[in-house]
Amino acid sequence: MTKNPPSFGSPASSGAAFPGTRMRRNRKADWARRLVAENTLSVNDLIWPLFLQEEPGRSPIASMPGVDRLGIGEAVKAAEEAAKLGIPVIALFPYTDGTSRNETGTLATDENNLVCRTVRAVKKAVPEVGILCDVALDPYTSHGHDGLLKDGIILNDETVEVLVRQALIQVDAGCDIIAPSDMMDGRIGAIRAALESAGHQDTQIMAYAAKYASAFYGPFRDAIGSTAALKGDKRTYQMDAANSDEALREVGLDIAEGADMVMVKPGMPYLDIVTKVKQAFAVPTFAYQVSGEYSMLAGACDQGWLDRERVILESLLGFKRAGGDGVLTYFAKEAAELLQR
Ligand code: PBG
Repeated sequence: MTKNPPSFGSPASSGAAFPGTRMRRNRKADWARRLVAENTLSVNDLIWPLFLQEEPGRSPIASMPGVDRLGIGEAVKAAEEAAKLGIPVIALFPYTDGTSRNETGTLATDENNLVCRTVRAVKKAVPEVGILCDVALDPYTSHGHDGLLKDGIILNDETVEVLVRQALIQVDAGCDIIAPSDMMDGRIGAIRAALESAGHQDTQIMAYAAKYASAFYGPFRDAIGSTAALKGDKRTYQMDAANSDEALREVGLDIAEGADMVMVKPGMPYLDIVTKVKQAFAVPTFAYQVSGEYSMLAGACDQGWLDRERVILESLLGFKRAGGDGVLTYFAKEAAELLQR
């Protein structure tokens, strides 16, 4: 006769009173909960995106309460804070006003643009902090698209040529991680090949591999001055929110083309994608808790509807539980301070 399998969740056969399994034992005290915790959030998981402006000092971003645009001096100070807190990487995004934008986004490949000047200043002052730079034309184009636009169509291969040049000038300035966010086909391979032939074999690429056409980017477009500029939407190059098989194909291609790390974006509404990507590829996988996610949490906290410290840590821990290796988050500095307590 076969023995009965051990029963879970049913009264113990010894005749002990119901319930036989008491899940609450491991939750009975703080020390017990810490002992059995499956996931942890650490400062090493954080990437801190910063918005840059030409003017010295700082100016607030209306749709991102608590986040400012920073002049170069302030960006250097932020990098120093990141270093002190142990945040491994900062990410840089420039605000560009309408007068500095044009049809082809010329400023993207100008080695003295705001991003390159900031990279040089930060690397000189705080060499121990990693710098990530976005590759895409949207901060620089008059139409606000990530690529070159002709007769209402985003040109893929012509755009990739410009992105390669944009990546190279950022690396020449001292950028450590190139992060193409444009979603053109073949750009990771083209940038990797260009980096190799320019002797930059150690530059990392973090591909915005599964980047969805999302309403959650709204406040970011305010922050970089693209909202007024953007004509139409980005659905011919960013992914459809309905799809997840397609995300795995995108990630597979970017890894094959030479990405060292991949990203899923947005974050909280796409945690299923984070899990699937990590399980399928086992590569360093990051999520971007984007501007709209920041603003909805920060806005509710400002109203007194949510507890800011708790939602910051809970939302970020969720990325770890989903399988992510780290998170780009506008809460990075605050989270790092909370984790120090
Ligand atoms: C640019 C880019 C965007 C974000 C990061 N890089 C916006 C977009 O694709 O329109 C969004 C980040 C955020 O919302 O915080 N290609």
